[in-house]
Amino acid sequence: MDASQPAVDQAAKNAVLNGLQDRVHFQCADVFDLLPKLEQEGGKFDLVILDPPAFTKSRNSVKNAVKGYREINLRGMKLVKNGGYLATCSCSHFMDPELFTKTIREAAANVHRRLRQAEYRTQASDHPILWAADESYYLKFYIFQVCEEE
Ligand SMILES: C[S@@+](CC[C@H](N)C(=O)[O-])C[C@H]1O[C@@H](n2cnc3c(N)ncnc32)[C@H](O)[C@@H]1O
Repeated sequence: MDASQPAVDQAAKNAVLNGLQDRVHFQCADVFDLLPKLEQEGGKFDLVILDPPAFTKSRNSVKNAVKGYREINLRGMKLVKNGGYLATCSCSHFMDPELFTKTIREAAANVHRRLRQAEYRTQASDHPILWAADESYYLKFYIFQVCEEE
């Protein structure tokens, strides 16, 4: 799902080009509306991937960004089947790895989920992290197995 109709149209075209149109479905929606709706409908998925835009492009709006990341992550976790997987990223430099990790931890605690980290990565080598330019380290990417607290 994506809030941009052109992005959804492009994804649908790519699915046809790859012969996957019967197996993948796209939806134009705002995740802040759709994730609660899916939860109300009892939706459960093997894998949920969250790849949001940078919720903050400056240090001043980090607090609001934390709220946004916490909200989509806790909602995403609730949609994962017990023992399923969550892939979650942040492409905002100002949401640093420590803060992103803390935010995910809080989201899991809020919804009584235990996270088993399967993977942590940063951006691919075609976007090198320049030690002389802090802002070049921007992508954080986790894969977790998500289990309900007993
Ligand atoms: C980092 S990109 C995702 C790229 C995608 N994973 C791909 O591989 O093509 C972030 C996307 O989030 C979408 N977006 C931004 N705000 C949104 C919202 N509130 N609800 C749903 N999608 C949103 C943007 O339109 C953008 O396409």
